Amino acid sequence: MKQRIGLSLIVALAGLVLIGAMALFVLNPERSSTDAIGGAFTLTDQRGARVTEAALKGQPSLVFFGFTHCPDVCPTALFEISEVYKALGPKGDGLKTFFITVDPERDRPETLKAYLESFDPRIIGLTGSREEVDIATRAYRAFARKVPLDGGGYVMDHTALVYLMDKKGRFVSSMNFERPPEENAKRIADLF
Ligand code: NI
Repeated sequence: MKQRIGLSLIVALAGLVLIGAMALFVLNPERSSTDAIGGAFTLTDQRGARVTEAALKGQPSLVFFGFTHCPDVCPTALFEISEVYKALGPKGDGLKTFFITVDPERDRPETLKAYLESFDPRIIGLTGSREEVDIATRAYRAFARKVPLDGGGYVMDHTALVYLMDKKGRFVSSMNFERPPEENAKRIADLF
């Protein structure tokens, strides 16, 4: 009996350790992972040009998923990214940012174009068919879900992570905008 209690305790403790490790992995805003984040996609930018994963090669990139009707997370992230561009100055031309909509039904190229005018002009908005967007979302292990609103319409619940990719298009870490833009700019410049 004693032995069995001891065993249950070990199992329970092992479970707790595992849950703790998973929580750390999920909650750490700058986690690094060997799991592949990123992959093949074909989308259309705000000027109507087709863009594939090849666009991530040759310079570091920021990739994130959102939608133009987003009340807070997306505009905040786009603002923070614009601040990083400001801190990078002309060197910022060496950084590509891809804002991929998870709401392609409403976010057509012209919608993205108008929306992105409030932010750094180097930010690239991407949309496509629902299927094209789903392929990109899955490739980045991002999450997006339509949430109907009481008064009609909907918002998209979505992954808020901004992925930092290196010049080979490999995932480095997610961005932490708690850091000052100058510090993030330096981190990115180190990847040039
Ligand atoms: Ni958003």
